[in-house]
Amino acid sequence: PPLENVINLHDFEQVARIVLPEKAWAYYSSASDDEITIRENRLAYQRVWFRPRILRDVSSVDWSTTILGQKSSLPVYISATALGKLGHPDGELCLTRAAANHGVIQMIATLASCSFDDIVDAAGPGQNFFVQLYVNRDREITRKYVQHAEKRGVKGLFITVDAPQLGRREKDMRMKQVDDGAGAEVQKGHEVKKDQGVARAISSFIDPSLSWKDIPWFLSITKMPIILKGIATAEDAILAYEAGVQGIVLSNHGGRQLDTARSGLEVLIEVTAALRSRGYFPDPKFEIYVDGGVRRASDVLKALALGAKAVGVGRPFLYAFCSYGQAGVEKAIQIFRDEFEMNMRLLGARTLDELVPEMVDASALTNH
Ligand code: FNR
Repeated sequence: PPLENVINLHDFEQVARIVLPEKAWAYYSSASDDEITIRENRLAYQRVWFRPRILRDVSSVDWSTTILGQKSSLPVYISATALGKLGHPDGELCLTRAAANHGVIQMIATLASCSFDDIVDAAGPGQNFFVQLYVNRDREITRKYVQHAEKRGVKGLFITVDAPQLGRREKDMRMKQVDDGAGAEVQKGHEVKKDQGVARAISSFIDPSLSWKDIPWFLSITKMPIILKGIATAEDAILAYEAGVQGIVLSNHGGRQLDTARSGLEVLIEVTAALRSRGYFPDPKFEIYVDGGVRRASDVLKALALGAKAVGVGRPFLYAFCSYGQAGVEKAIQIFRDEFEMNMRLLGARTLDELVPEMVDASALTNH
């Protein structure tokens, strides 16, 4: 179907399902076990209702922001998704080129198909990146990767903390005999089990011994802001704050890790309450992000009203470039822009600062 026919982010998923090779579709779309959490990621947004304000002169509205101090044209960043070349020959570079044209920040995955340097080399003027880190059992490899990223100007280190082992994604596991030709460069040389799906085949280097004790080491090897990606409780949000990192992503990894974990949006409510009661929130030096299931600007506005600084979006951008290359990603960004304009007008928020908890009724979110 022509790109003009795509009118919302859901459409990219429908197109991807048709055009993607079976193996890529299985890897990208799969979630763990019974796929309850991936469904919940969408349902959570549907349980939060708006309380729009009126008569506020919304002739001009502005949805630009900063994320970790970096300008972003949207309160949305492109979250890390591995193995982009399974779905498009240019892989993650489609994201990079589109992000360059629209002032959007891309988070580069440790397991990107394109090499880290190829992605950064493709940057446009002033383009910013974050990097996602799977911590290697060999910390020397990790140290080099992190310090190289910092040297190349990456603005934030997102350490994935919800994946000591990758989840069982059964749709993916049914695709046997995976040829991992699209795999990441940095992590070569590890034994690959070809009968467990793409995800498990590429993840054996990840260190399950990672713990809170390692955080000071990360803080000592880089000046990049450190963000823990995959926080799922108030308890761990408090530990993260006290460990001195600069932010957290409330995430269940797009439903791909612990099934029946809660949505990031639901977790946000207990996290802000717990941090606030200790005087840790709001704090401009500690940003909270949410990801999972964000498909509409209205979803983003709900998360921001409840205290998130920005949200991460994974599959929609992935499906957009697999289906239409760079142009698909640019269209996805354009869709977000159009939706922000309309939704902010209808909600009565001229800037993102005007989004306050009173603009949503989240009572049904935690009451189910
Ligand atoms: C991911 N995600 C992910 N996260 C991470 O920290 N490292 C990674 O390598 C990957 N790889 C990856 C691959 C694919 C195919 C998907 C769909 C997701 C998780 C990602 O960063 C993000 O948390 C979710 O994608 C957010 O959910 P949505 O937007 O996909 O619903």
